[in-house]
Amino acid sequence: MAARANCLIALRSEGVSLVLDISQGQLPAIVHWGADLGTLELADVETLILSNIDPGGPNVVDEPVRLAVLPEHWTGWVGRPGLSGSRAGRAWSPKFTTTEVRVDGKPMIMSEAKPTMINLGLASVEVDAIDEVAELQLQITIELTAGGLIRARADVINIGQDPYTLNDCVIALPIPQSACQILDFAGHWGKERVPQRRPLTVGVHLREGRKGRTGADAATLLHVGVPGFSFSEGEIWAVHTAWSGNHTHYAERLFTGTQVIGGGELLLPGEVILQHNQAYTTPWIYGSHAHGLDAVARRFHRFLRARESHPSTTRPVTLNVWEAVYFNQDLDHLAELAERAATIGVERYVLDDGWFGARRHDRAGLGDWTVSTEVWPHGLHPLVDKVTGLGMEFGLWFEPEMINLDSTAARQHPDWIMATGDRLPVESRHQQVINLGIPECYAYVRDAIFDILAEYKISYIKWDHNRDLIDAGTAPAGRPGVHEQTLAFYRLVDEIKAAHPGLEIESCSSGGARVDLGVLERTDRIWVSDCIDPLERQYMNRWTSQLVPPELLGSHIASTRSHTTGRVHDLSFRAATAVFGHLGIEWDLTAATAQELADLREWISFYKSNRRLLMGGDVVRVDFPDPAVLVHGIVATDRSEAIYAVASVGISEVMLPGRLRFPGLDPDRRYRIRPILVGRPPSGLNPPSWWGAITTEFEPSGERRALGWGLPADGGDGIVVSGAVLASTGVMAANMHPDHALLYRVAALD
Ligand code: DGJ
Repeated sequence: MAARANCLIALRSEGVSLVLDISQGQLPAIVHWGADLGTLELADVETLILSNIDPGGPNVVDEPVRLAVLPEHWTGWVGRPGLSGSRAGRAWSPKFTTTEVRVDGKPMIMSEAKPTMINLGLASVEVDAIDEVAELQLQITIELTAGGLIRARADVINIGQDPYTLNDCVIALPIPQSACQILDFAGHWGKERVPQRRPLTVGVHLREGRKGRTGADAATLLHVGVPGFSFSEGEIWAVHTAWSGNHTHYAERLFTGTQVIGGGELLLPGEVILQHNQAYTTPWIYGSHAHGLDAVARRFHRFLRARESHPSTTRPVTLNVWEAVYFNQDLDHLAELAERAATIGVERYVLDDGWFGARRHDRAGLGDWTVSTEVWPHGLHPLVDKVTGLGMEFGLWFEPEMINLDSTAARQHPDWIMATGDRLPVESRHQQVINLGIPECYAYVRDAIFDILAEYKISYIKWDHNRDLIDAGTAPAGRPGVHEQTLAFYRLVDEIKAAHPGLEIESCSSGGARVDLGVLERTDRIWVSDCIDPLERQYMNRWTSQLVPPELLGSHIASTRSHTTGRVHDLSFRAATAVFGHLGIEWDLTAATAQELADLREWISFYKSNRRLLMGGDVVRVDFPDPAVLVHGIVATDRSEAIYAVASVGISEVMLPGRLRFPGLDPDRRYRIRPILVGRPPSGLNPPSWWGAITTEFEPSGERRALGWGLPADGGDGIVVSGAVLASTGVMAANMHPDHALLYRVAALD
């Protein structure tokens, strides 16, 4: 009989406490996850545990049900079990005993008589457990990480001789009954991360991702909070499954009132069958607790920013040629585009889809990762030399997990196409999935990418993935292969990164269909959406930043008429929207007017002089009651300065938007607030008196004539008010036409 672990662990950091009960050989249970409880004594935690035991009720098991992070059915828990699987019908309800606990890799010394109690800051707690009858070993890792974010995952190991079929393995985080309103995300191509709310009622709110990729419709983050929680208020618990394949997020309210949020990988039938001594590892399941959605998001941002590999705040201004030329790659045109880009201050130039094989359209060439001699008779050298000679970095597009049937790769290796049995999956964007789970196929794709990286000076890869995985099996039997494919994708990115230090990779998937912390662990930017229409991006960037900080959000200024919506927008609105992410341009600049280029140059220069703040500050989204106005900003982490944006996104039933509140500053400091003048003013601008600007005069006809900003270039004197005034009373808004935006700078006087 194995020794039984016996300890209580309290972790606390950045306003969060996580208290774990790993006593008497039981699986770890979360006794408290929420507000900081300070340093705790053994007796405090014992009292917490005691005060948490419910009185039970009629017609339920006679013992109190103890809910572990991997909930166990044998305890009487009749909600979703943590581990679900069997050995052909046996070992389906395991009962684990914990045997060892390690803190940051060091085993804890524990006695059976009395639980050992420790208080820690950021730490990693690993718990080993075993069920000798079911012949399963389990390791659960629970961490309190930078930003006060918690995360947990499990490893399941089959120590029996016969195979163990794993159906599901989820991590469950308990939340109190006061949290009863759900917010998660819907979405589709061109409209990613649309928030949706609903009450948490008895049953399971289950969000399944069965697309073999994260999905434009992914839940992304599942929040449950007190009813009416907003950007700034209301206690919230949120969960995120860090996985780029099939996955789940869920919230469950049992008939007893007990509630959990959790998630895991969604396994296809027979996808994971563990042979003797084989292990399966779940994705990390992240949890963020805070008051208000901004604070929930900030924990994710701080966690990501604390990584050594996190990109710098000096995100290079990027030009991506996709919406400029699509598949019409022509050296002269692309070189002219590079020249224009360099003159206005672009720092990175990305050649998109169409440079390889027979890829003149989307029906051919995927899988043949050699430069097309038809389009590029001298290879990419002339363009790469041009771009790097102009002082810009060169980036290149790949879609390594995909294949067109009309390709040499598919003709030579039809067995590399993911499929079930004897039929091909239904095509999507005329393409199929190439099976990176097959070692020879993986090596072929890796070597092809390595060859290109060896031949050209490439600083950046835009890594695309343009279809769902349907019927994604491995030939010849067609066993489900999404799990293996997801791991192989991670392995490939890791291998490329390890061999090419400094190379950055963007995660793109038909726009923003691969946005999760699994992919972000190894990439440097996500493409938020193929829809670059600024009106849509006001919403999509706003909500994508619930998980991803601005410096990782690919945010481009596109042409006047949006290619995905047909809407027409002034450059000022397109640019004022885009500068709150990693700025890029996706527009045929050879067709831009001199005025547009001059304005763009101004916006790029504004971005460059402010990017340390824009890419490194705290995101603040304002709860503005009028849906016709969106207000958000970035506040320096030391509260010394901020830039806010006010976007007019519709016409309200009232004439004026009223006063604008700018929260997030130090209430006791005094700040100067003034408008930021870049390029041309928004149309219909009618500023409030405190600007001190005269922007229009009357024509003899009585018509108003715009005079421009009517202020000195630095925005004038503005007014000086306290952070408290800005957060509570606010200042009067300017009026402007819909689909326009204004920026404000707020700077502390001290
Ligand atoms: C989808 C991406 O989202 C676009 O930006 C572009 O790279 C195309 N794929 C290219 O095929």
